[in-house]
Amino acid sequence: MSEIEASGELGANVRIGSFKIADAATTDAAGMAFVLDQMAGRPAVQALKAWALEQLAPQPGETAVDVGSGTGEDVVAFADLGLRAIGVEPSAGLRAEAVRRSGPSEVEFVEGLADKLPFDDESVDVVRCERVLQHVEDPAGSVREMARVLRPGGRIVLIDTDWQTAIIHPADPEVLQRMVGSFLAQSANPYSGRQLRGQLVGAGLEIAGESAATWLEPQSGARQGFISMMHARAFQSGAITAAEAEAFAKGITEAADRGAFHMSLTMYAVSAVKAPVA
Ligand SMILES: C[S@@+](CC[C@H](N)C(=O)[O-])C[C@H]1O[C@@H](n2cnc3c(N)ncnc32)[C@H](O)[C@@H]1O
Repeated sequence: MSEIEASGELGANVRIGSFKIADAATTDAAGMAFVLDQMAGRPAVQALKAWALEQLAPQPGETAVDVGSGTGEDVVAFADLGLRAIGVEPSAGLRAEAVRRSGPSEVEFVEGLADKLPFDDESVDVVRCERVLQHVEDPAGSVREMARVLRPGGRIVLIDTDWQTAIIHPADPEVLQRMVGSFLAQSANPYSGRQLRGQLVGAGLEIAGESAATWLEPQSGARQGFISMMHARAFQSGAITAAEAEAFAKGITEAADRGAFHMSLTMYAVSAVKAPVA
């Protein structure tokens, strides 16, 4: 058994590693909330959340929608700024967790999907959608749906990772290529980050700004999170042998023990506006 598996974290991460809505019935909401909390604390995520809020310039009295709202923290942020704040979230467990966490803030969490939003045409001032489009089967259609509900003059920000930007060290390059390849193949939309700009333009919106942030995994990440999820998926799918899985885990964890492990990936954010009526 590899050192990553021996940590006991590998199995847990595989079970909770998917945010695809097709897996929602078998995915544990408490586990998903735990992973989201870990992610929310990372500097790259915080930097892009702050950038998004600045770009969206939310005004009291406006209506704001967070598509794929997870634990609801960004919905609460809109409500606390005096907006009507609505989170659209298909997972009933995450909606319940978001309600529990929202305390006295006036928020709404509704069931819905990115490509079928429960709102009238041109009824929303502000839309955000963070790290969701990588999980959906029709990301371009989902962005058109977000554009549909935006009022003329409304603002939108999309944030997502591009998983092909992942750099992992140390690892045998050929084994790593197979591991990353298998992870990309099992993801709904792994190249989401690079597509955001084109999806907004394709939906008839005007680009207002763009940003990026590099996720730098701490040394503890050698034994959990993305590394253990990718390692497990590659092994389970047959992309790597047991011996290769063992060697990868040994190399990565030994490097982390020396403080020499590296994993990074890039997240992108793009803001746009719906042209006001002339
Ligand atoms: C990685 S989480 C991000 C959550 C939140 N946006 C944040 O920044 O913390 C992805 C979220 O997208 C939701 N999701 C998955 N498929 C979706 C879909 N088709 N439409 C809307 N949300 C979806 C998941 O349930 C999950 O809450």
